Amino acid sequence: MSKTLTLVRPDDWHLHVRDGAVLKDVLAHISNQFARAVIMPNLKQPVTSVDLAKAYRSRIDSALKQLGVPHFTPLMTLYLTDITSRDEVRKASENQIIGFKLYPAGATTNSDAGVTNIKHAYPALEAMQKYSVPLLIHGEVTESAIDIFDREAVFIDRILEPLRKDFPELRVVFEHITTKQAAHYVRDADTKGKNTLAATITAHHLLMNRNSLFAGGIRPHHYCLPILKREEHRLALIEAATSSNPRFFLGTDSAPHPKGEKESSCGCAGCYTAHNAMGLYAEAFYSVGKLDLLEGFASFFGPDFYCLPRNRDQITLVQQAEKVPFEFTLGDTVLVPLRAGETIAWSLAR
Ligand code: DOR
Ligand code: ZN
Repeated sequence: MSKTLTLVRPDDWHLHVRDGAVLKDVLAHISNQFARAVIMPNLKQPVTSVDLAKAYRSRIDSALKQLGVPHFTPLMTLYLTDITSRDEVRKASENQIIGFKLYPAGATTNSDAGVTNIKHAYPALEAMQKYSVPLLIHGEVTESAIDIFDREAVFIDRILEPLRKDFPELRVVFEHITTKQAAHYVRDADTKGKNTLAATITAHHLLMNRNSLFAGGIRPHHYCLPILKREEHRLALIEAATSSNPRFFLGTDSAPHPKGEKESSCGCAGCYTAHNAMGLYAEAFYSVGKLDLLEGFASFFGPDFYCLPRNRDQITLVQQAEKVPFEFTLGDTVLVPLRAGETIAWSLAR
């Protein structure tokens, strides 16, 4: 008999579904496993206003309708810029926007319209603190003089810590953390008993270290941002995710890019895990004998932080190897998923 794990249906607190033709196919993958997902706003035309978010939401809803999955809820975010107004923040708080995403300008895919200097965003941050709208952070400095493997740790000292001092009541999610420094910062931060700091962790950062970028040759499908780090950092992330500390919860950061844009002389950042994200997380938790702690991380701590109800239905994962195709056709593009041509040890019971 294969081992199974039944857990309350999880949510994905950080996801890229993009737009246009791929939207429906990404949603088909993710809605299999999750009830809700926080939808990233870094489209080619970034989602910088409530009106743009409403229009994007209705495109997502029509894709869901075509798929026949009315049970899935997209949680919309707005893209923070140097000129986001206090009024837009107020409007966001009145229109179920789950948070604002801070992309330091130039940090990653479609971040050119991001924040060039955190001080420029202070009026918006003040309003976010006032209206209790969370700030979701891509935590890397962008200076090319700083080593790419150090950019997250430097961000903590130079940006995050001063920001949290200036806005002690602001609710912050440090997204897709990748280092021991980030895991310990979130674990140890004194939030004065308030629910003001959390972090998401991806499956790929729990399963791979930076050697995976160069295993037998250069591996563009393992390139994401923040970039994979040394083994000691992966171990710190595993420890955080399996610690039952409600500050750490699931966010896949599954990020589709066409095959040709990854396998290129200047390939895009992003790993696609939506096809079996829960199988990958189960592998990571099982590898350290902590499978029983996956439910808190995947299904409870996220909604608790965002003050949303926990889901009520359940999913079951089976320890049965699932073969991953070499490619998926998503809309009019071809995409190479994580573990293409290999297997994932856990799969969703059908
Ligand atoms: O690897 C990444 N891909 N990191 C990000 O921050 C953005 C994402 C994307 O949108 O492709
Ligand atoms: Zn992301």
